[in-house]
Amino acid sequence: MGNTLSTLTPVEDSLFLTLYCKALDSRFPKPILSDAMADEIVRKLDYDFEQFKVNSNFIRNIALRSKKMDEAAAAFIRHHPDAVGLDLGAGLDTRVFRLAPPATVAWYDVDFPAVMDVRKRVVPDRPNAHVIGADVTDPDWLNTVPNDRPAVILADGLIGFLGKDDFVSLLNRLIDHFPSGEMAFNSYTRFAVWASTVARGTKSVSGLLKFPGVDDPRELETWIPRLKLVREILLAREPEISDYPMAVRLYNRFLATSVTLSRKGTIVLHYRF
Ligand SMILES: C[S@@+](CC[C@H](N)C(=O)[O-])C[C@H]1O[C@@H](n2cnc3c(N)ncnc32)[C@H](O)[C@@H]1O
Repeated sequence: MGNTLSTLTPVEDSLFLTLYCKALDSRFPKPILSDAMADEIVRKLDYDFEQFKVNSNFIRNIALRSKKMDEAAAAFIRHHPDAVGLDLGAGLDTRVFRLAPPATVAWYDVDFPAVMDVRKRVVPDRPNAHVIGADVTDPDWLNTVPNDRPAVILADGLIGFLGKDDFVSLLNRLIDHFPSGEMAFNSYTRFAVWASTVARGTKSVSGLLKFPGVDDPRELETWIPRLKLVREILLAREPEISDYPMAVRLYNRFLATSVTLSRKGTIVLHYRF
C-alpha cells in the first residue's frame, strides 16, 4: 500500500488531510460527524498522518462542513428516492455509508483514477454505489451517469483545486446533464483563499489552490445563471458550534456576530438548478 500512496500527486494527496480530520473527529468525546469508518481506514493506511498539524477548530470544521453536505443530500434523497447522487472529488470519504441511501438511488463517487484505485482497496463496496476514476474537468466521464433523474451533487474539498473556467464549465455540464437537482460544496472567500496560504492546517495544500474565491454566494449566480441559491451555510452560525470546546466556541461566536465575519470561517453553499 505504501508504494501506491506515495505515487499520488499533491492534489490527490490532499484527501488524507480531510480523511484524517474526520477520523480525529470520530475520536472526540462529542464528535460532529461520527465517521468511525474514516478512522478504520486511517488505521489501515501506511501513511504519515502525523505530518498534519491540525487544530481542534480545523478538525471540527472539516467534519461539520461534511455533515452539512450530508444533510443537504439526505433531504434531497428523502424527496427524490430515485435520485442520482454524485460526490465529486470523493477521495476516501465514506459519505455513501453515512447517508446509506435506499437501493433506488444510484450513487457515484468521482475522483482521479489513481485515487479510485486506492479507494477500491480500502473502502468496502456498497450496492448501487459506483466509482468513476476521472478528472472531473474532463467532459466525458458524465456520459456513464444516468441523465433522466434528479441529481444531488456534493463537492467536499474539491472546488479549491479548480480554476474559475474549469469550475464554471463543470457546473454548466452538470446542469445540462440532469433534468434538475441540487448542489452543495464548501466555498472560499477571497480572504479564505489568502488565509489558506498562511494557516498551518492548510499548509499542505496552499500552493495547489486555483479557485479565485467568492465573497458573496450570489456572485456564483452571475457566473452560472441557472444556479439558484438555496442557502449559504455559515458554519460559525450553525447550532453544532455549541458542542465545540470553549476557546473555539468563543472564536466562532465572535465570527457569528456578523455575516462578513462569519464568511471568514468555513462556508457551505447550497444551490438548486
Ligand atoms: C481535500 S480532498 C477531499 C476528499 C473528500 N471529498 C473528503 O471530504 O475527504 C480533495 C479531493 O479532490 C480530488 N480532486 C481534485 N481535483 C480533482 C479533479 N480535477 N478531478 C477529480 N478529482 C479531483 C483530489 O484527488 C482529492 O481526493
